[in-house]
Amino acid sequence: MSALSQWIEDFEGNEMPETIITSGKGGWVNIQGSKPAYEAVSGHSCLNLGHAHPELVKSMTEAMETLSYCSPEHLSPASIALSAKLDELLGGDFMTKYSLSGSSANETALSIARRRWRALGKPEKTVCLSLDRSYHGNLGQAQFVTGFEAFRVEGRPDSPEFIHVSSARNADTGATYTLDEIEQQLEQSISTIGADKIACLFVEPIGFAGGVIVPPKGYLKLLRTLCDKHEITLVVDEVITGFGRSGTWFAFQQEGIRPDIVTMGKGITAGCFPLAAVSVDKAIYDDLRAHKVPLKMVITMAGHPVGCSIALKAIEIVERDGLCQQVTVNSQLIHAKFEQLIHQPTIFEVRGFGHMWALEFCEYNGHTAPHIAEKVAQQCQENGCIVAAADGVIRINPPLNISVEECDGMLLAIVEAVEQISHELLI
Ligand SMILES: Cc1ncc(COP(=O)(O)O)c(C=O)c1O
Repeated sequence: MSALSQWIEDFEGNEMPETIITSGKGGWVNIQGSKPAYEAVSGHSCLNLGHAHPELVKSMTEAMETLSYCSPEHLSPASIALSAKLDELLGGDFMTKYSLSGSSANETALSIARRRWRALGKPEKTVCLSLDRSYHGNLGQAQFVTGFEAFRVEGRPDSPEFIHVSSARNADTGATYTLDEIEQQLEQSISTIGADKIACLFVEPIGFAGGVIVPPKGYLKLLRTLCDKHEITLVVDEVITGFGRSGTWFAFQQEGIRPDIVTMGKGITAGCFPLAAVSVDKAIYDDLRAHKVPLKMVITMAGHPVGCSIALKAIEIVERDGLCQQVTVNSQLIHAKFEQLIHQPTIFEVRGFGHMWALEFCEYNGHTAPHIAEKVAQQCQENGCIVAAADGVIRINPPLNISVEECDGMLLAIVEAVEQISHELLI
């Protein structure tokens, strides 16, 4: 029985073992009662520049000393500069609303998507489409956008307002659908629901929490075309993929598309301050303004000047140190190393890109094997490297500024863990 006055749970709602992290430096953390470990999952996919980055510490301290808070009804120099920078990184003509977390950013995006159609005289367009293995948050309306049933804890599992369509991966066979199959499935769903009822489609460029689902090339382009054809607002959730983790500022940029709404969180401050943002195509914003649709969305701590200052500094570091390019180089190294594991009988698949990778485990009969993933994750931690395990997959997404030595060490710890567990299971 825990002596703590707080609780932590895993994705399935199981109580988690009490791992107490006492301090961190770079990608390394000290764990009470255990040896230090490299956080190959960037904390919770957010710590893009590691712990205690000296420039972030300095920027945070200076920002606190300059302006410790600014009401969401006012502007601060930091919030103005950050929204201008986001506009530049996104390709221009985006208007930003700050939020607090990925979940709340997605709720804001949903609300804007619905208000948009009301403004344009189509109030019946309210249905939100999202993918069956997606994750967009687990509070408020965001839990209904999320595709995993386990997160829809507040009921309404079959709400006609939230419809989950197939992701790019067949959940039973693990095969990636072709673009033609995806198009057919989506056209079918849209026709059954009625395009005149659908407000928006939410998509993660990589379904990271869903097991690192990497769609086929051309996927976002296809979704863009379908959304244009059926007047559906395309919301791209870049909460995990944003700010360099894919090898470009935003993963959607790899397909050369322009989303209608982009949501961001986690890495925006390199995980050092709670801040999120929703950037909306200015044409949508202008429509809403022209039709006098109120856009007031007040969250006391949203757009906090300290968070905005840290975000500006984090973006400056990623830009200055060429970390997007470095991620692309690292991606090839990581892929090459993991490919060596493919002959292991426990490995079903290696997939990912940028700094987002998955090793999926299976039994001899090819069935997915959550217990093997759990064992490998435990072994990784014993080998000095923290990875995340769920649904038969271990996920690996290290900080963007991982050094060559750290990258080698991380890969060695993971490869050895897979070999150790595979060997153990074969005996
Ligand atoms: C793609 C995606 N969107 C949204 C969220 C929710 O973000 P938060 O936990 O900050 O509410 C997450 C969190 O993991 C995420 O991965």
